[in-house]
Amino acid sequence: MLRRLPGGKAAAFSVALVILFAMLAPAAATAADFKREVVYQIITDRFFDGSAANNNPPQSSGLYDSTKTNWRAYWGGDLAGIQQKMSYLSGLGVTAIWISPPVDNLNTNIPDGNGNPTASYHGYQGRDFKRVEEHFGNSSNTWTDFDNLVTAAHAAGIKVIIDFAPNHTTQDNAGEFGAFYDNGTFVGNYSNDTNGYFHHNGNISGTGWDDRYQVEYYTLFDLADLNQENATVDSYLKSAAALFQQHGVDGFRIDAIKHVNWGWEYSFANSIYTGGDSFLFGEWFQNSTSDPLYHDSYKFANKSGISMLDFPLNAAIRNVFGSNTNFSDIDNVISAEGANFTWKEDLVTFIDNHDMARFLSLNNNQTRLHQALAFILTARGIPCIYYGTEQYLHNDTGGGTDPYNRPMMNAFLTNTTAYTLTSRLSTLRRNNLAVGYGSHQERWINNDVYIYERKFYGNVVLVAINKGAAAANITGLNTSLPAGAYSDYLTGLLSGVNINVTTGTGGNNPVAAFSLPAGSVAVWQVTEAGGTPQVGSIGPTAAQPGVKVVIGGKNFGATQGTVKFGTTTATVNSWSATQVVATVPAVANGSYQVTVTDSSSQVSNGIQCTVLTAKLIPVTFTVFNASPTQVGDYIFLTGSTVELGNWATTWDGAVGPMLAPNYPNWFLTASVPAGQTIQFKFIKIAAGGAVTWEGGSNHTYTVPTSGTGFVNVNWQN
Ligand code: NOJ
Ligand code: NOJ
Repeated sequence: MLRRLPGGKAAAFSVALVILFAMLAPAAATAADFKREVVYQIITDRFFDGSAANNNPPQSSGLYDSTKTNWRAYWGGDLAGIQQKMSYLSGLGVTAIWISPPVDNLNTNIPDGNGNPTASYHGYQGRDFKRVEEHFGNSSNTWTDFDNLVTAAHAAGIKVIIDFAPNHTTQDNAGEFGAFYDNGTFVGNYSNDTNGYFHHNGNISGTGWDDRYQVEYYTLFDLADLNQENATVDSYLKSAAALFQQHGVDGFRIDAIKHVNWGWEYSFANSIYTGGDSFLFGEWFQNSTSDPLYHDSYKFANKSGISMLDFPLNAAIRNVFGSNTNFSDIDNVISAEGANFTWKEDLVTFIDNHDMARFLSLNNNQTRLHQALAFILTARGIPCIYYGTEQYLHNDTGGGTDPYNRPMMNAFLTNTTAYTLTSRLSTLRRNNLAVGYGSHQERWINNDVYIYERKFYGNVVLVAINKGAAAANITGLNTSLPAGAYSDYLTGLLSGVNINVTTGTGGNNPVAAFSLPAGSVAVWQVTEAGGTPQVGSIGPTAAQPGVKVVIGGKNFGATQGTVKFGTTTATVNSWSATQVVATVPAVANGSYQVTVTDSSSQVSNGIQCTVLTAKLIPVTFTVFNASPTQVGDYIFLTGSTVELGNWATTWDGAVGPMLAPNYPNWFLTASVPAGQTIQFKFIKIAAGGAVTWEGGSNHTYTVPTSGTGFVNVNWQN
């Protein structure tokens, strides 16, 4: 049975339902299934000043500019301000907020070249990761305002993601010289680093931005670069993240993941997931799928359990809607990433953010902004909207880049087209699983028109965008939508039209020729009721036995059935028709297909999940005098558990490539199972794929049960 929900009636009905839900049953869904969320990115200092009391706190006085003329000073926005705007956010359709780093930041002023004070209003110069910044909370740096915000957000059905920066503390050559504190107790600083808490390798520069060793071990813009292999630093960062989990956060946007020790990050993610339900995505900056480290990026996302901000798609979105390049730019990225990322629907998509010019600074055209917004809200991935987009906020000084892309929120109107659009498409994402879980297929494309279909079994959403200046005649379009008449889900908000579909074959139902107006976006959709169980989501994507995973989908039924990892039944912790929480069973480590069987023995499709051997511990492996390499050859690590690639000998299967700042010695941190005795060897994978094994017998090592580990061995000839 198909239930069609086109047009205005359905939308109004759904809005009513959402309001009812928000009143009755807030935040039912769990964080590890984030695909149906709409994220809103807030720079706390620049959103809303909810309390004047914290504007100029004593321990860091003078960093506030009430005139809002110094763009690098604090302007007064705070956690209380976000809390006060909660109904504005829920009306917008936001279901998760990502707030700038809330931790206690640099207390001093570092003058810029002109002697003007600069402050860490953005939050990326943390000094105490276990306390809340006084400009955002109170001058005792307590959790009160943070807790109040989380409580209010959850009551409104909105999840809270914090920005967390494990790469660095404060600037290493000025201000507080990297000093960091553990809930008020001094731990160390950069200038007198007797315990090795930091790397002292100088700034990443030039070709170093593409060099794995520099990217991970050099310094990012003078920010004191933490050494996560140090057991104190490791435990400091993990316990800080755990503290935020205890204070109710639902997820982490991990700053600069490309610049932190990649292997260590697997254990960081694992530590969070072991602590509880969460969604993690990181900032891996890259301009395209041809970036030299693109392959490393998707290998990382596929194995670490950390999803990513979709920077390649962001660049394509800005090119297509901002600079008017052809739609193929977007479609090519979607296809390439679709082939590379195992859990591509978890990629977080965006038009702009705090590190680049806002869209309207790039192209001051609201129609184009609406198209881009409609695109991220309906295309593959989890949409993230930068604060103020819905108010057309922008300041074009200096091209509108940092800091001019961080203006104070200018208005809180709830009737702009962008606000209404976001709200409606958020409702669609909630009600039609094709948006969060479905495949993404190009159905019709030319330079100015992009028609794509999202499909999750019988749930289908078809979206048509015409960015051109002329109406487009659409002939020969096929869809999976069943035969029938479809009205525009946006009811003409972006000048969309209605279509008629007739029955075809092989999932290709012809759409009667129609004219797609210039500058328009139309959305047609259908939801399916009934049917067998279908799984669309699992999270975390890598976890050891005993950790809970959240499985999203439909038709699970009201009565509890079973969850299986391969053929092994897992304990079910909670069950609903669309979401099941189960505990990873004690199966052998490896990659599993997870299925849901309903109470009438109907079995779902499988979804991939990696079962780890045990909790992960970061261990740094060094092999001395490895087999000689030519340019393009690398040494990798492989070994006896899934964390070590299960003896894989491919670029994607083995652990690496390792790093050789002291060639021919190679090293790499890998996260390996606590307390296990592992066997491993080093291999050379030549540029063409040829494999050279280390000789002799396997190395063995018993992984510590806490802290960090180190292994130093000679290459066996
Ligand atoms: C990337 C952040 O998005 C940016 O705003 C920040 O300055 C750097 N990382 C350093 O934390
Ligand atoms: C195959 C390799 O040839 C060997 O050297 C290695 O020890 C084993 N895999 C793993 O047991």
